[in-house]
Amino acid sequence: HDKPKVVIVIFGATGDLAKRKLFPSIYRLYQNEKISKEFAVVGLARRPWTNDVFRENVKHSIDDAHATDDDIDSFTSHFYYHSFDATSDASFQELNSLLGDLENTYQTEGNRIFYLAMAPEYFGPIANSLKSFGLKNSAGWSRLVIEKPFGHDLKSANELNNEIREAFDEEQIYRIDHYLGKEMVQNIEVIRFANGLFEHLWNNRFISNIQVTSSEVLGVEDRARYYDHSGATRDMVQNHMLQMVALLAMEPPIKLTTDEIRSEKVKVLRALRQLNTEDIGDYFVRGQYSDGTMDGKQLNGYQQEADTLAGSNTETFVAGKIMIDNYRWAGVPFYIRTGKRMAVKSTKIVVEFKDIPMNLYYTEESKKHPNLLVINIQPEEGITLHLNAKKAGAGSVAQPIQLAYTNKEVDGINTPEAYEKLLHDCMLGDATNFTHWDEVAYSWAFVDAILNAWSSTKAYFPNYPSGSMGPEAADRLLEKDGFHWWPII
Ligand code: BG6
Repeated sequence: HDKPKVVIVIFGATGDLAKRKLFPSIYRLYQNEKISKEFAVVGLARRPWTNDVFRENVKHSIDDAHATDDDIDSFTSHFYYHSFDATSDASFQELNSLLGDLENTYQTEGNRIFYLAMAPEYFGPIANSLKSFGLKNSAGWSRLVIEKPFGHDLKSANELNNEIREAFDEEQIYRIDHYLGKEMVQNIEVIRFANGLFEHLWNNRFISNIQVTSSEVLGVEDRARYYDHSGATRDMVQNHMLQMVALLAMEPPIKLTTDEIRSEKVKVLRALRQLNTEDIGDYFVRGQYSDGTMDGKQLNGYQQEADTLAGSNTETFVAGKIMIDNYRWAGVPFYIRTGKRMAVKSTKIVVEFKDIPMNLYYTEESKKHPNLLVINIQPEEGITLHLNAKKAGAGSVAQPIQLAYTNKEVDGINTPEAYEKLLHDCMLGDATNFTHWDEVAYSWAFVDAILNAWSSTKAYFPNYPSGSMGPEAADRLLEKDGFHWWPII
């Protein structure tokens, strides 16, 4: 590939995401020469910043011990700030002429990325103004990147989508799910489809259940307003968790093209067993953290984190059993769990294989040790295979052993950050690791049923202490099926 030439326009440039993820990612792309040296970034927000203030902020967001001041200054000289009011016609006209000027200066051939990293109520109106004020009419391509949340439920997501689609074609829309940019999430497909050892066993004859955990130590932080309106199910399950399930469960695509992979993922999401209100309690568990101590520090319960959270019925934890009613997966539960203020920051997938028909060996604790394939998404990146082997010198006794592969140790460098890869993909026009509207719609339909059932009843919150692995009910969810969560620590 030629190095992409582009002007990146960031709506919401004074926000948290821009600072924590976007600026550092653009810097890495620049440093690793993944983008043309001739590029520009336009930051938009309401605040009346100057280019200099903006560049200072960008500079602070890049924490790279190896970079010299000169290097960072020449990088930030490509950043321009424009004070912007999304409801003002003049703002869009000025932006358009600024882009024209920058395209002249940097010879970026009219390629434009419009990155919406701001309050979702502006997504639709901005997309339409970009069209009506001619910002999409440059000589090159125009792409729209949209952050979450993509709607609040199926209905609002649908409305948002229709609004955006009036201005942009599906091929121009890049809906971000940053989990799809994680190295080991991308590795799920490779591990499955490049290994006969796994793929031949990857079905309901040989797999007993699959467990996907994404736990966080942090609480709601300063996002109470967003989070209390959202909750763990909208924040993590509708997008990240269901995307991982789709990658674990999909059929091999006939080719590794965007459309073929998407269509296999969509088939999984179509096969999710839809839950009735009466059944929700058998399949899903919600939780909210109470106070607790971690590393000797006293932590607040969710309802004490902000005044507005007192009495909140919002879940900060969710665990569920997802059934995929198709030929490959009939009868195999996919258990998921995710939450804030849990014991550890970790995202892991455990694939538990069925027992052999008869076990000839004693094991030490006379416990069964099923074969497990553990895919470590973060913070470790790698896979661990749990097998049984002879215990040395001990007669006919088997003991569990582990074969482990760690990404980081082998490469010796940090794998690229998710946003870095996704931004680069977008510049190259590769939408494989972005979510298509169909995926969004099926995920919302599944999640809506759960949320509707929950919204009509008051939960017994709080029900798990900060620093734990969630409420006991999440353990019972598996126990009643004869399974248990495999420890992820
Ligand atoms: C985001 C959620 O999508 O994912 C956050 O809005 C959550 O609440 C985050 O903390 C987790 O991402 P990661 O990459 O840290 O696992």
